[in-house]
Amino acid sequence: MKIAVVILAGLCAIALADRDGQVYGQVPFKTADKQHNQIQHDILRLYKYVNQPSYYKDHVEIANSYSLEANIQQYSKPEVVEQFLYYYQYDIIPRDHIFSVFHEEHLKQAIALFRVFYYAKNYDTFYKTAVWARNHVNQGLFLYSFSVAVLHYPATYGIILPPIYEVYPYYFYNAEVIQQAQQYKQQYGYQQQQQQQHQQQDGYSGYTIRANYSGYYLNVHPEQSLSYYTEDVGINAYYYYYNLYRPYWLNYEDVYVNTYNRGEEYYYFYQQFLARYYLERLSNDEGEIKVYDYEEPLETGYYPTLVYPNGLAFPQRPSWAEFGKNYYNYGQSYSYKSRYGYSYDIVQDYERRIRDAIDAGYVKTEDGKVVNLFEEYGFNTLGNIIEANPESPNSRYYGYLQVFARHLLGYAQQPLHKYQVAPSALEHFETSLRDPVFYQFYKRIVIYFQKYKNYLPHYNKTDLEYPGVKVEGVQVDRLVTYFENVDADVSNAYYVNEEEYQNDNYHIRVRQQRLNRKPFTYKINVVSEKPVEAVVRVFIGPKYDEYGRHISINENRVNYVEFDTFRYQLQAGKNVIERNSEDNYYSDDYVSQYQLYQQVNSGKDYQVYGQEVQYTYPTRYLLPKGKRGGQTYQIYVIVSQYKAPDHQQEQQKQQQQHQHQYQQYVGQGQEQRQTYYYPIVGLGVPNIDDYPLGYPFDRPISQKEFYVPNSYFQDVVIYHKHANEINASNQPQDYESAQYYSANQNYGYNHNYIYNQYNEQ
Ligand SMILES: *[C@@H]1O[C@H](CO)[C@@H](O)[C@H](O)[C@H]1NC(C)=O
Ligand SMILES: *[C@@H]1O[C@H](CO)[C@@H](O)[C@H](O)[C@H]1NC(C)=O
Ligand SMILES: *[C@@H]1O[C@H](CO)[C@@H](O)[C@H](O)[C@H]1NC(C)=O
Repeated sequence: MKIAVVILAGLCAIALADRDGQVYGQVPFKTADKQHNQIQHDILRLYKYVNQPSYYKDHVEIANSYSLEANIQQYSKPEVVEQFLYYYQYDIIPRDHIFSVFHEEHLKQAIALFRVFYYAKNYDTFYKTAVWARNHVNQGLFLYSFSVAVLHYPATYGIILPPIYEVYPYYFYNAEVIQQAQQYKQQYGYQQQQQQQHQQQDGYSGYTIRANYSGYYLNVHPEQSLSYYTEDVGINAYYYYYNLYRPYWLNYEDVYVNTYNRGEEYYYFYQQFLARYYLERLSNDEGEIKVYDYEEPLETGYYPTLVYPNGLAFPQRPSWAEFGKNYYNYGQSYSYKSRYGYSYDIVQDYERRIRDAIDAGYVKTEDGKVVNLFEEYGFNTLGNIIEANPESPNSRYYGYLQVFARHLLGYAQQPLHKYQVAPSALEHFETSLRDPVFYQFYKRIVIYFQKYKNYLPHYNKTDLEYPGVKVEGVQVDRLVTYFENVDADVSNAYYVNEEEYQNDNYHIRVRQQRLNRKPFTYKINVVSEKPVEAVVRVFIGPKYDEYGRHISINENRVNYVEFDTFRYQLQAGKNVIERNSEDNYYSDDYVSQYQLYQQVNSGKDYQVYGQEVQYTYPTRYLLPKGKRGGQTYQIYVIVSQYKAPDHQQEQQKQQQQHQHQYQQYVGQGQEQRQTYYYPIVGLGVPNIDDYPLGYPFDRPISQKEFYVPNSYFQDVVIYHKHANEINASNQPQDYESAQYYSANQNYGYNHNYIYNQYNEQ
């Protein structure tokens, strides 16, 4: 969290952080430079009321006069412009229709538009293209392609995107919130709104909606008690941004991608994400993430209480839904136009082939060449196959599993026309995490990867030990979580007229309870025989299952969340390594787009770079929710020898090549400003050395070999408190266990407790 992970352009390797949290590479602008400020300002303006055409005079002028054909020489690859124009003129998703990256035709157009942005020879062209596209192409298509472009285009490195839940509240707040915003907007004009001002204690001049999670109105399934987690706007935004940084379709020919780890990173992201979710389930007395069969009815139904901007509801999936073709597609079209109609077969074919490949130990390319899976980078190859990224040796055969699985499981209807679709929640990155089946599907994927790992020998003592180094203990502060109110602006949930657009003074905000945790420190006591360079890994994992049974280490190893990893220079003798919850790379809350806008316009130096902005997992969810009486987890620490990544040199060479390409079309002087925010894989932990991701839990464990002196398990208890108790001083340590605990027993599911807090405030 401390410092953004920023690397010189062309050196966009995963950040290497030393023990002070310093990041090798270029540190971002602490103060705003003028040119950068201007770009930030331009970009923010383009996101305003993105569902309507822009009313800004300068935008309208460019949108009406700019021509891609006439400026084709302004793009370093004119053919990408021709490709896009072909779509634009003959076959493109119309404005106001629903866009989904998981629909092949939509994705093709999104990639085409992304390339047009990306190959603009200079910022001026990039900007004009964006303004033109903002008013002419489909809103969802623009939003997606443009956001991917901003993150990867050299001239816009380090630019902050406004929080996606403010840009597109439809995908983050439930229908009743959107409805309330629109209702209020219809009833009250700007003048009346001002009169509300004195009713707001904090001087906010606008209306405040209190948003609840879907468990407030629905009780579809006991898992709804987790809706505060699955619907958290920060976690959902993180998943969205992660996929903007690392689109599965992103081609190495276009953009530098670390191909050495790409597939492995894909695995590790989901493995960690599921492990984190499992911890949250345990806090809510939900056990393992469920498994399902495609042939059997699926227990977990899902009612997304979301509406599309055009008023259409998101498709729902009843409990015990059947997927067999006859059930799912009955009466629906089976012609070419509904390739998704065959998802049931396609998904099962792809999964079977993947399982077979793992057992066989090799895959074949389209022309029959054999690629061995059990050699160096073999695991990475497996990841490429399952992700179906451009590095996949054979995506015709191993296919696009996640695309079809999302369609099938989301239970969307087969559209009659490719542009008149109502995709399910799983078919948008913004909303995927809300459906419990998301986790069930990715659990299958993680199990396939583990099937591979189970063929590898377990780590022996030699692999795990660090001779001469011993961890003697770990002391952790008292760990406390609580819910608190967090505000966000939802002005994009309604439409404004030209005057309101330009003055931008009509605001409505949403106040919602979100989890947080108190800051904490932990100390690791290490004794070393001599001064050595080490890497310390810290994990948090469960100890007991939902019934209070101890989970054996070999079962449990996939449940450990890596939450801190850093290099450390050990001295001879005793070392006390003190770390705190702010030392890692988890994200602070995103700055509201209006604050961001004001900061940029103020002309003053502002500190948003490198501080608040980090597209990683939200730091407020660093710990799983505790319990009134405490919930036990375990912290695991292992101190290992530092091993520099061995492919670093090769990687740098490739990056330099890419940088060379950039310089051909990015104007002079801009290369100094090229800093690149690279997302950290996993939740908030940089990949800093040469161990496999997830080491040492990534392989099966031999009880005899695993417990080495340079590692340590420590039980920790996480408590959950009421927000009012957090700052109350001089409370007895176990205050919560007396009156509050018994009071809280009355509310069946935990989420009721959250809602109840509204009444108490
Ligand atoms: C959320 O719940 C509170 C009461 O617990 C209620 O006052 C409020 O209207 C609800 N919000 C919405 C948008 O329904
Ligand atoms: C431990 O495993 C490594 C390979 O990972 C092997 O080279 C080594 O000989 C093994 N050591 C023992 C003591 O079995
Ligand atoms: C506790 O106090 C600090 C400092 O005044 C404040 O920033 C924080 O929001 C408070 N926390 C809660 C939960 O009230």
